[in-house]
Amino acid sequence: MRTDGGVKRVAGAELVLYREGSSEFYVPDPDRYCEGGLPTRDAPIAFAPNAAVNRSILVLFHRVNRIERFGDVFCGVGARAVRLHLEAGVRESVLSDVNPLACRVARMNVTRHGLRARVHCLDAAIALSSFDFDAVDLDVHGSPVPFAQAAFRGVGDGYVHLTATDLESLYTPAARRKYLLDGPLRDRDPELEARVIVGALVRLAASVDVGAFPRYCLVEPGLRVRVCLECRRGKSHANRALEHLRRERGVGPVWSGPLTDERTLSRMRRELDRVDWRSEHVREVRRALGSNVLIA
Ligand SMILES: C[S@@+](CC[C@H](N)C(=O)[O-])C[C@H]1O[C@@H](n2cnc3c(N)ncnc32)[C@H](O)[C@@H]1O
Repeated sequence: MRTDGGVKRVAGAELVLYREGSSEFYVPDPDRYCEGGLPTRDAPIAFAPNAAVNRSILVLFHRVNRIERFGDVFCGVGARAVRLHLEAGVRESVLSDVNPLACRVARMNVTRHGLRARVHCLDAAIALSSFDFDAVDLDVHGSPVPFAQAAFRGVGDGYVHLTATDLESLYTPAARRKYLLDGPLRDRDPELEARVIVGALVRLAASVDVGAFPRYCLVEPGLRVRVCLECRRGKSHANRALEHLRRERGVGPVWSGPLTDERTLSRMRRELDRVDWRSEHVREVRRALGSNVLIA
């Protein structure tokens, strides 16, 4: 939510101070650069107000699974890192983006709060292979698959969070290239979309001897799928994860195991009673946490 702080200009971009959860940070003015909760084409930095629920779910996850070092490697304005520092006790983070203005604003945002965070203008693949993390977030526009192996190597025993927005490609022949499927999906099915994405990631993790197991999947129909994977280093964990891959509804391989971890989810729901977020936002997040495959 926009605060009353007025507009600040940085390199010609109009920024406003924005409140989300219990954090404040500068973003491109949503009244000027957003439509329907998504950034417009001329937005100087990609910031999506309608990703607030998934950012809050990330915060809840790390309030119940504490980490020290976070990699926000598609950082935009740095919203995820700022929120994890201020609301989930993250101690240090590395933020990176290829957009120099995003890096400048992310640096403003972390400096404003005196966070132990470094911002680098770097391609995510380089950031992932240059630093060690307990958790990384691949909040990419498109497919996270090209960055997945570097992420699994970078966290070892940790967490990989990611976003997929190219959901249309699952229904076209591109599904073979983009998500390692043996053919496209036929009928619209948000849960199957999540199972395909997890299936591809589990195989990529296994290729670098990491077992990846979903802790939650959040489907925002037609917009994006968010996946949180807990990773365990070692061939035996990788083999154990691969055992959950099957053909389902005429396509494969897809993840056939649980998409959410019920214990983690109930702890996250309880944690929702302890946050001081706007009550309307708490209701939205609670609704998303209510289903088995989380649907926002
Ligand atoms: C969806 S936006 C990130 C939004 C941000 N995580 C948030 O929650 O507000 C994706 C960002 O990735 C950046 N980007 C695109 N390709 C990249 C790459 N190869 N390496 C690093 N950043 C990249 C874009 O400049 C953009 O800022």
